[in-house]
Amino acid sequence: PHILFVAAEAAPLAKTGGLGDVVGALADALNGDGIRTSILMPGYPSALAQLELLKPCGWITTLPGREAGLWRGLMPDSNVEVILLRDDDLFCRPGGPYLDIDGREYADNALRFAALGHAAAIIASGGTEIEVPQVVHAHDWHAGLVPLLMRHYGSKARSVFTIHNLAFQGNYPLELAEACGVPAHAREDGSVEYWGQLSFMKAALNYADRISTVSDTYAQEILTPEFGAGFDGMLRQRVRDLVAVPNGIDTECWNPAEDELIARNFSQDDLRGKHACKRELQKTFGLPFDPFAPLLAMGSRLTGQKMADVAIEAFPALLAAHPRLQIAVLGCGDREIEEGLRALALAYPARLAVHIGYDEAHAHCLHAGADMLLHGSRFEPFGLTPLYAMRYGTVPVASRLGGLADTILDAGDVSAPVAGATGFLFSGETAEDMISAVDRALAMFAQPQCWRALQRADMAIDAGWEKSSQRYIELYRTLIEEPAQALF
Ligand code: ADP
Ligand code: GLC
Repeated sequence: PHILFVAAEAAPLAKTGGLGDVVGALADALNGDGIRTSILMPGYPSALAQLELLKPCGWITTLPGREAGLWRGLMPDSNVEVILLRDDDLFCRPGGPYLDIDGREYADNALRFAALGHAAAIIASGGTEIEVPQVVHAHDWHAGLVPLLMRHYGSKARSVFTIHNLAFQGNYPLELAEACGVPAHAREDGSVEYWGQLSFMKAALNYADRISTVSDTYAQEILTPEFGAGFDGMLRQRVRDLVAVPNGIDTECWNPAEDELIARNFSQDDLRGKHACKRELQKTFGLPFDPFAPLLAMGSRLTGQKMADVAIEAFPALLAAHPRLQIAVLGCGDREIEEGLRALALAYPARLAVHIGYDEAHAHCLHAGADMLLHGSRFEPFGLTPLYAMRYGTVPVASRLGGLADTILDAGDVSAPVAGATGFLFSGETAEDMISAVDRALAMFAQPQCWRALQRADMAIDAGWEKSSQRYIELYRTLIEEPAQALF
């Protein structure tokens, strides 16, 4: 079968978070074994620059009066085909996939991603020279109109929509629906309308043949008002079509034995290289070189989702209680949180260092060199970074929810350590909740034998895509075999 992914990001062509990692790595893992996966995404400058053997393959009309080109090429270092939607007015801009260089949302994001939706539906209905896929797999709200538009264009392909983050919904003024090419019936029957707005997420949840999300716990959580972000009722109605397929990670990219972005390679059997990586991390972040100081890292989007505001509250108390503790933070996001962290770095020189920015090489250096990774979350569909850290023997201290609760086994207390544990989990959203988990981790760190056992368990985790890509293949096959049903 031929599967068409539709997404706003695919690493390494474009990435602002875990979505890009998953789309890139999953497409690669699925390709082969009788399955062919292509990715349709916007023709950003970064994608145009990196694709190999890029050539044009047709013109389509996406939105009323908007012509766009389709170009196809190959992902660097893999044979996944990528189809770029080339509308340079919409997609070739300085700035990222969603934000301009000043960090403001592009004013026409609804139109940009509606155009992507039309391109997918046109391909899926045979309107181009591109092979018609049997299944279109749309990821996150940016591809939310795809299942609806597939029906509109008369596509016979089946659709899967994956929720990577229910909090981002693509809600826009309802007046934009017509310009986005939302069919008249859907503008009138309430199927895309959410509290008076046009909602890409709602369109997806109504029209996709199957809805999936990226961990078992999150799949349960989003059925409740606390985590459902307003859509728990709809999801409960569609619970028979909702499946959980946990993410994997790219174990080649995140491999301490071969990573070229770290100071020295190491493995489970020989951790000596990790000392060099710790030294490198201290040097890069301007922290004093101290091989015995516990080094706590935090690396993520600096937002409320990641409890970065709570970490700012927790850090002074942790530094006061643990005189040798060092903290290194990498990230970018909310301006206020960035400023708060910068202020802490000034207040605690030589103890807490902050690098504000998005930097892949620094992320490798951080995960490889730290002793522990702090990853608080108010909600977490999956959470890739703790798994990256674990591969490098960096022990996660994370919230007990979403994918984190499924991937991390709590080590308990140093007086009675849990065999086979991989990290430390905390419930709650207060600085005290976070501090008590870090305290437990630091107590364990002071017992080298216990700590080595944790590191060994972390480095042995089986986190690749093999199992989960098989689950997606089963899902696609079931969909292809079952008769299409009228949903709405
Ligand atoms: P989310 O998708 O919610 O941001 P994940 O942990 O699933 O969370 O994925 C985040 C991805 O983004 C990881 O690949 C992580 O390394 C990367 N990332 C986040 N912030 C930065 C940053 N400042 N520099 C480099 N990589 C980052
Ligand atoms: C989202 C989620 C994150 C998940 C990622 C990939 O950005 O916030 O938890 O790992 O998507 O599915």
